[in-house]
Amino acid sequence: MSRQIKIFDTTLRDGEQSPGCSMNLSEKIEVARQLETLGVDIIEAGFAIASPGDAAAISTIAHTIKNSTVCSLARCVEKDIDTAWSAVKDAVDPRIHVFLATSPIHMEYKLKMTPEQVLDSVRHHVTYTKKYLDNVEFSAEDATRSDWDFLCRVVDVAIKSGATTINIPDTTGYLTPGEYAELIHYIRDHVEGVDNIILSCHNHNDLGMGVANSLAGIEAGIGQVECTINGIGERAGNASLEEIVMALKTRKDYFDAETRVDSTQIYRSSRMIQTITGVPVAPTKPIIGANAFAHESGIHQHGVLNNKSTYEIMTPESVGIPQNAIVLGKHSGRHAFEARLNDLGYTLSKEKIDKAFEKFKVLADKKKVIKDRDLEALIGVVPVSGPVRYNLKQYVINSGNTISTTAVIKMTKGEEEFERAALSDGPINASFAAINKITGLSIELQDYQLRALTDGQDAQSEAIVKMTIGDNSHDIITGRGISVDIVEASIKAYINGINKYLND
Ligand code: KIV
Ligand code: ZN
Repeated sequence: MSRQIKIFDTTLRDGEQSPGCSMNLSEKIEVARQLETLGVDIIEAGFAIASPGDAAAISTIAHTIKNSTVCSLARCVEKDIDTAWSAVKDAVDPRIHVFLATSPIHMEYKLKMTPEQVLDSVRHHVTYTKKYLDNVEFSAEDATRSDWDFLCRVVDVAIKSGATTINIPDTTGYLTPGEYAELIHYIRDHVEGVDNIILSCHNHNDLGMGVANSLAGIEAGIGQVECTINGIGERAGNASLEEIVMALKTRKDYFDAETRVDSTQIYRSSRMIQTITGVPVAPTKPIIGANAFAHESGIHQHGVLNNKSTYEIMTPESVGIPQNAIVLGKHSGRHAFEARLNDLGYTLSKEKIDKAFEKFKVLADKKKVIKDRDLEALIGVVPVSGPVRYNLKQYVINSGNTISTTAVIKMTKGEEEFERAALSDGPINASFAAINKITGLSIELQDYQLRALTDGQDAQSEAIVKMTIGDNSHDIITGRGISVDIVEASIKAYINGINKYLND
């Protein structure tokens, strides 16, 4: 029988803490639900001590999720562990993940602790965590730049203190696959009792070896892999979940290992993270990039037409990429709309279907043919991050190449209606300036992207704005809007970001 590898997803912790990937409460819950459907074993839902918002999100996820373990990160600090416990305690299967750095550089310059103090702290804090629960993970941060014998002593102390999972992170993405495998073998050969716990890997991607190192870890006997959807995470990111899962599945003959993940949920999970964070993946990204299953050259197309396996080692269906696109139009009813969403794998609440269907009808008036990507875009904007505050009612732009642009924006907030005009050097800037006048918020635009979601002249455009508001200059808010009109998409994205800010 094949070995079972546990998938520990840290999209909501390591992924979410990376620049431009922050999510609000309702987005985190939506992601957690999707991770549960995807079938990950452990959801690292956040770092409870980081902020009351993080703790509240972990606690809500702990109450929501039934089929995956819910975990919070904690430093080796009693207050961190108490806060982590409060956040996860109501989960069906809670876990606390404590960590402390073990490399000379981290101990000397960051922790200002001696190796003996680090050992004492690990002993004390793992024991302290055990008073709350049995399922305790310990991570030796920067393990791969630590002295191997000292690392073995740390692992030994953590096991003796009760840790049931021990993680050996390549925090800086420094090792090569051969070295990482050697380190895992070394630990397995030198630490007593290591076969009674689960060894875990957590490989960052600084040199592009995150996935390769994780797979090397699996070959060397690792039983848990820490990874993120789309590989988001600190700096160059973490090892990407979809690549690891599909490598194990496609090369089962080689690894003889499997996961509990339902690979047909991969595409949807990836799209959700791209939509929520506003961080798209490269077209060449393995498994989920737009070109991952595209065959461009004549020779390749010829081969694939004769037999798909000439150039495809896995099928798009196996990762849940929708096939046989059927098109909907303005005469399609709610039933056909819902049925197509179900075919695409979306099972939404009645309320969400109703909202999405309203948007579908508006879109169908503007666009003859509505394709799957249009539907996905509709779903992507349906999740409302709390009660919406502002709504766009109307906009008028007066623009030209020899005049300044004027934008007049009319917006509602509950029963109230506001109208303001602003002058600037283009329709987007002028619109944003008018919205700023209405809301009175001091908004700084950090990034703005616009792209066509589908092909053809009536393609829907997606605008993504990243903004900071007020004094929260490090909290980047992502707003998203879609429309067949690029100015409208941009205005909607801007208002979406403002509503997220106000609702949070
Ligand atoms: O990269 C790292 O070392 C971490 C630990 C907290 C596990 O994220
Ligand atoms: Zn990390």
